[in-house]
Amino acid sequence: MGRIAAVVPAAGRGERFGANRAKQFLPLNGMPVLIWSLRALQSHPDLEEIVLVTGHEDLAYTRKLVEEFGLWKVTRVVEGGQTRQESVHMGLRILDPRTRLVLIHDAVRPLVESSLLVQMVETALGGTAVVPAVQVTDTIKVVDDAGFVQKTPGRENLRAVQTPQVFPYQVIMEAYEKASREGFLGTDDASLVERLGHKVKVVEGSSQNIKITHPQDMMLAEAILRQKGGSGPDTGLNLRVGTGYDLHLLVPGRKLMLGGVEVRSDLGSYGHSDGDALIHSIIDALLGAAGLGDIGSHFPDTDPRYRDVDSRVLLRKVLGNLRKKGVAIINVDATIVLEQPRLAPYLDRMKNTLAADLKLDPSLVNIKAKTNEGVGPVGKGQAVAASTVVLVRVDRRLE
Ligand code: CTP
Ligand code: MG
Repeated sequence: MGRIAAVVPAAGRGERFGANRAKQFLPLNGMPVLIWSLRALQSHPDLEEIVLVTGHEDLAYTRKLVEEFGLWKVTRVVEGGQTRQESVHMGLRILDPRTRLVLIHDAVRPLVESSLLVQMVETALGGTAVVPAVQVTDTIKVVDDAGFVQKTPGRENLRAVQTPQVFPYQVIMEAYEKASREGFLGTDDASLVERLGHKVKVVEGSSQNIKITHPQDMMLAEAILRQKGGSGPDTGLNLRVGTGYDLHLLVPGRKLMLGGVEVRSDLGSYGHSDGDALIHSIIDALLGAAGLGDIGSHFPDTDPRYRDVDSRVLLRKVLGNLRKKGVAIINVDATIVLEQPRLAPYLDRMKNTLAADLKLDPSLVNIKAKTNEGVGPVGKGQAVAASTVVLVRVDRRLE
């Protein structure tokens, strides 16, 4: 079929929106606008690569977002220019010359539906340029500089165009090069292709595929999401929960490791590894959320490699596996049950250690400690137990 790529311009300043942060970085239902747009593109099965174009000062932050949200199809984040046209041009230039089709999609059209993307690509594979458009509802007038109506074009033939606009790569490259040579500045990508004398096919766009331009557009986007309700690829929500539990006997002559922190105690946890019950319960919760079984199947206690192993090493391994599968952690909440010593003085260190390993902000990791009120083996000080709940987001279909 040939390579299909996308260029997403996100280097604008959002002057009409007027917030103190560019609109593509503002949250829409908890997720930055540009992440919604990128996720929608990423969900197209045949799209291989996304080049994201952003402002110089936002490069590092944008790369962090891309990593954090598991946008593995974003292969490059590059610096844009003064105008949208320049920004898109920067992105187009660095695409693989073997690219067959390019989708150009505004970072600020977060609600584009998968079905529209599929239809656009299908049409463009026929070899033509394609743009989505909707009927205009207002009457449009051409007005002169003095503020008088010059003429009123018939509404039947007027359309408001959206993105993504899809082009054969050679055609759009040629159009951009020519426009740049001749100093032509268009307000969309297709207008550059029209100047080459190429035909541009118009397909029915979507009323939901709005561009966030003014603050009220954000309110409209929120209302659209509310009305759609539920979850699914189109709303970007794909959450899973996992629980984990672990218990270790307490014996003399061993360290007591909890959350990667050594707790001063006469008794330590017995186990093949370092016996960190808290980390083991977190690992089980993570594996559970991702549908990947449990700690025993990944790190068997018959394997000599894991004798006395630092459980943080295992945790980081699991995290690497989850990342490869497109699973991102949202938050972790855990409880340790230990009769003594009191764990309060250690909890902050555990939280910070775990947050660093999980690459989460510490506010998203919560560690609690309780005693078992003298009841049962844990209450008698014979064992330490821990349980965990995690919430994750899945950005790819899990096998
Ligand atoms: N864009 C870009 N580089 C620019 C200007 C715009 O990549 N120099 C991007 C925007 O980030 C946005 C898309 O092009 O994703 C559409 O542009 P627009 O809605 O006009 O966004 P802004 O230019 O940011 O807004 P404004 O015109 O109100 O300042
Ligand atoms: Mg603009």
